[in-house]
Amino acid sequence: MFLKLAITLSTLCFISFAAADLDCNPLNTTVTCSADPALGKSMYEPFSSNSSYFSKSSSMNGGEVTFSEEEGVKLSLVKRYDNPALESDFYIMFGRVEAQIKVANGTGVVSSFYLQSDDLDEIDLEWFGQDIYQTQTNFFSKGNTTTYDRGVYYNMPSPPQYEFYTYTIDWTSERLEWYVDGVLVRTLSNDSNQGYPQSPMKLLFGIWAGGDPSNAEGTILWAGGETDYADAPFSMYVKNLVVTDYSTGSSYSYSDTSGSWESIVAAGGAVNGRLTTGEDDFDSLVAENIGSTYVIGFVPATTSTSTSSSSSDSTSPSSSTQTSTEISSAMTSSSTSASSSSASASSSSASTSSSASHSVAASGAQRIVMLIISLFQVL
Ligand SMILES: *[C@@H]1O[C@H](CO)[C@@H](O)[C@H](O)[C@H]1NC(C)=O
Ligand SMILES: *[C@@H]1O[C@H](CO)[C@@H](O)[C@H](O)[C@H]1NC(C)=O
Ligand SMILES: *[C@@H]1O[C@H](CO)[C@@H](O)[C@H](O)[C@H]1NC(C)=O
Ligand SMILES: *[C@@H]1O[C@H](CO)[C@@H](O)[C@H](O)[C@H]1NC(C)=O
Ligand SMILES: *[C@@H]1O[C@H](CO)[C@@H](O)[C@H](O)[C@H]1NC(C)=O
Repeated sequence: MFLKLAITLSTLCFISFAAADLDCNPLNTTVTCSADPALGKSMYEPFSSNSSYFSKSSSMNGGEVTFSEEEGVKLSLVKRYDNPALESDFYIMFGRVEAQIKVANGTGVVSSFYLQSDDLDEIDLEWFGQDIYQTQTNFFSKGNTTTYDRGVYYNMPSPPQYEFYTYTIDWTSERLEWYVDGVLVRTLSNDSNQGYPQSPMKLLFGIWAGGDPSNAEGTILWAGGETDYADAPFSMYVKNLVVTDYSTGSSYSYSDTSGSWESIVAAGGAVNGRLTTGEDDFDSLVAENIGSTYVIGFVPATTSTSTSSSSSDSTSPSSSTQTSTEISSAMTSSSTSASSSSASASSSSASTSSSASHSVAASGAQRIVMLIISLFQVL
């Protein structure tokens, strides 16, 4: 999402978290980029104090970052143009990332938690301050922003602004999975016809005002409306982060300009060198430090999807064991039921699909309309 905005709305310098990463794109044949420092192991970070693994994002130009035992790191947008964000000093090459997150309130305030590579692959989780119903999962491949139809909205059992939920991204060379409180909400297969993220990624998270009045109208609509700074500060909280790198080595570099995972070289190690070890010590770190802290042992809410998702991108919670044909039919039936269950709050997710250039505006407007409808239904 930052990618989308950074590229299509480059006039808005203050929202471009991705700026530093645009400096050296390894797919550019005329440059040689420096290698990415590898995590190459597993780590636990409670964010109860300043982390040795994270720094303020290089493009952060305002906002407050504070730490506490109770709520981890708090990123606050205090005044206009603040964009507090942290980024990891390390990269992972496939891996599993999990954190407990409480997202920011505020109309048009966007909270995000994402992985991003130097060649602009992205794996995203995103929330909008005024949207108390949904979490968006998204991805990008090699900076391709031809279409904006990769986002999928997941209906939350309760507002992600009100309590910490556990969000997990599990990313291998075979498939990418997003979880909310242990429930698999989306699977992307590596044969997706919209590309597949497969290059070393750093981890970033932060908040910014997509609804700033100076933003393009489409951006403000997409973000959910104009941000009212009288309501500030807006804060996002992240705690109990666990990261495992499925690869080993001291750094990762691109051996050619294909951007394919097979072209990535792990110095002194191997890509996928600790797939099993990584999974095992991820589980140990969670058990030792966090335990089971899910908000609700809930029945998965209806999921929704963009209508143009490929057959290899499923939102069915049980999809990991299905064939792609079964996934297609499951998706057809799930989108049918989503649209017919309009009496529930979950209809607000009717979603953002739509293709082509005006999709930012269209999807934003559609989301607002659906949100208003569901608010009336709730009231
Ligand atoms: C490749 O890098 C050079 C040098 O930084 C830059 O001038 C050029 O615009 C880049 N090309 C692309 C396609 O990004
Ligand atoms: C953490 O500490 C370092 C110095 O040790 C400092 O430069 C950095 O700004 C601090 N990070 C945050 C987020 O406060
Ligand atoms: C968002 O607003 C609700 C209602 O006022 C409040 O309970 C919650 O703590 C707020 N969340 C954050 C992250 O500030
Ligand atoms: C994609 O995943 C399949 C298993 O689902 C695996 O056999 C195949 O090698 C993977 N393709 C790539 C390019 O990694
Ligand atoms: C970018 O994505 C679009 C839509 O998924 C696809 O049709 C196109 O081939 C992609 N472009 C490149 C350069 O991969």
